[in-house]
Amino acid sequence: MVTVSQKEIDATFALAKKLGVSVSQLSRPQICAAFKVEDRRARSIREAAMRTIGETPSKSSHSSIPDRHDNRIRMENADLRKQLNDALRREVLEEDYQKFVAEVARHRVEHPPNWAVTPRSGKSHQAVPVAHLSDAHFDEEVNPAEINWVNAYNRPIAEMRLRRFGEKVIVLCDEYLKGVQYPGIVVPVSGDMFSGNIHDELRETNFDQLCGSFRYWIDPMYAMVKMLADRFGKVFVPWVVGNHPRGTKKPRMKGRVRDNFDWLLGAMLQRDFARDGDKRVQFLISESADCNFSVYATRYHQTHGDSFRGGSGIAAELSPMMIGDARRRERQQATKTPYDIMIMGHWHRRICLPSIKCNGSLKGYDEYASINSFKFQPPMQSLWLDTPERGITFEAPIHVASDDEGWEQKNSRTEFFKTA
Ligand SMILES: [Fe+2]
Ligand SMILES: [Fe+2]
Repeated sequence: MVTVSQKEIDATFALAKKLGVSVSQLSRPQICAAFKVEDRRARSIREAAMRTIGETPSKSSHSSIPDRHDNRIRMENADLRKQLNDALRREVLEEDYQKFVAEVARHRVEHPPNWAVTPRSGKSHQAVPVAHLSDAHFDEEVNPAEINWVNAYNRPIAEMRLRRFGEKVIVLCDEYLKGVQYPGIVVPVSGDMFSGNIHDELRETNFDQLCGSFRYWIDPMYAMVKMLADRFGKVFVPWVVGNHPRGTKKPRMKGRVRDNFDWLLGAMLQRDFARDGDKRVQFLISESADCNFSVYATRYHQTHGDSFRGGSGIAAELSPMMIGDARRRERQQATKTPYDIMIMGHWHRRICLPSIKCNGSLKGYDEYASINSFKFQPPMQSLWLDTPERGITFEAPIHVASDDEGWEQKNSRTEFFKTA
């Protein structure tokens, strides 16, 4: 039992009065500070003072306020300690990072990864370029005003695009690709080289009669093939006919090839190169609608594509192409001439699938495509490299249109009211 003197009790009341609180509201730290006593003694003094005025000190009443105060201080101390530790940790980490950067800066990399320093082996790669030509529709005229000025086509433009086809093949092979040796080139010609007369509107608007067109275009075609022979040494030209230059309005099955100006063009070119004694160029003019040939290990099946009908919805021409390919593979398998890649023209849109290569067109977008809202594609043909090790590798479009064709692609929108 701790003894509290009357003097201490009086001093307690005096302190409470001075602070403007009751004795029971005095906190132990206040009593400790005023009387220079320890916490336990302060509690006894306050309890003795309270008993003199009939108040019973309760544990909760006399300890709650100071305990909460102490707890708050403890929590604040813990928080401050944590902040201090965090700050110190950040400083240490920053210092470690700076040391690491300085260390890295002092030392160069001793062992760079091999792929960064491996020199070229010097071994040249061999590949055969395949430049696919189709759908020239020579002497068809496309009036740019009728298709919102997105394309134009006539004889001079067609001649520029044919020449550009040959030039671009050489530029792509020689300047875009380095370190590849070409033992020759394959130029499959896949039909629709003339506009033909199968529709009255074509007969009425073609630049020339079909025989006149034939007479004219044999020379530029000869020049283009010779240009490629001059660069690549050997040219192999597999050839199938299209549906446009046929001699009858309705497609025919018997005599389908020989009744077609595409066939005659190929046959005459073959004869002309033979007459000139130019053995660099070899033709394979198919007597059937299709043609099978190989480049290294890749077995190609060439067809024009008009025998695959249909195509609607979002899949558009993909449906007839893929259905046709499946049926064609079955037929070729059964007749012991299976193929790896089917190449075709006709659809006028360059589409490169793993097993189907559909060519774009030299002619480009026309009135039929525009009115039917077919997908737009600039005039283009296809080039790819066939390699002995991996078959088809590099594939690229051959853009045949140029700015010097004498017409200007322009926005045909008329702005009646212009916003400022
Ligand atoms: Fe065509
Ligand atoms: Fe066609």
